[in-house]
Amino acid sequence: MKGKFITFEGIDGAGKSSHVEWLTELLRSKGHTVLMTREPGGTQLGERLRDLLLHEPMHLETETLLMFAARREHLAQVIEPALARGDWVVCDRFTDATYAYQGGGRGLERAKLQQLESWVHGHLQPDLTLLFDLPLDVARERIALAERSLDRFEQERADFHERVRQAYLERAHAAPSRIHVINAQQSIDDIRNVLENTVVTFCS
Ligand code: TYD
Repeated sequence: MKGKFITFEGIDGAGKSSHVEWLTELLRSKGHTVLMTREPGGTQLGERLRDLLLHEPMHLETETLLMFAARREHLAQVIEPALARGDWVVCDRFTDATYAYQGGGRGLERAKLQQLESWVHGHLQPDLTLLFDLPLDVARERIALAERSLDRFEQERADFHERVRQAYLERAHAAPSRIHVINAQQSIDDIRNVLENTVVTFCS
């Protein structure tokens, strides 16, 4: 069976990262070869760009172009070769995050994002996107509990994150066959059940 491209999305504090690892292990236990990766990042250059993107103040268009530059490298070096081999790819964030954060959160025109998207990966979309959704105050509480310094995005005000959340939900509404919304307030076990059922249904 040909490999699938699965992405995870959600506002900061939605708790998706541990589920990325869990789903990867589940797929491996079913005999698939699975590449687990993330954006921005996923390559040596991409991780250096990630460091800049998360910590260095910059113009919104610079930020957007660097997100797509990191993505182009990630696709060329990692994602496209893996899919061509027939492997599965599980990626923590992808282009929906750029529409949600740079578009919804920061207000960059959609037409510019569409141009960059079609340039960088007009030929490729995720097969399935798992969108972790929860109310903003719950996500903010989770971030506040984290004992680490916050990056540029996590430091943004509540109204920024509310716009990011709404942009994600609008994208899910517009592409219901690809983007599956998961209630991230459920227990870990319930989320795992939903993930397994969703992946089996979508990818079989
Ligand atoms: P994430 O991996 O969720 O961070 P963490 O290590 O805290 O789990 O994502 C890093 C940040 O990058 C996140 O706040 C969202 C942001 N981001 C964008 O703004 N645009 C993008 O295109 C991507 C991929 C991420």
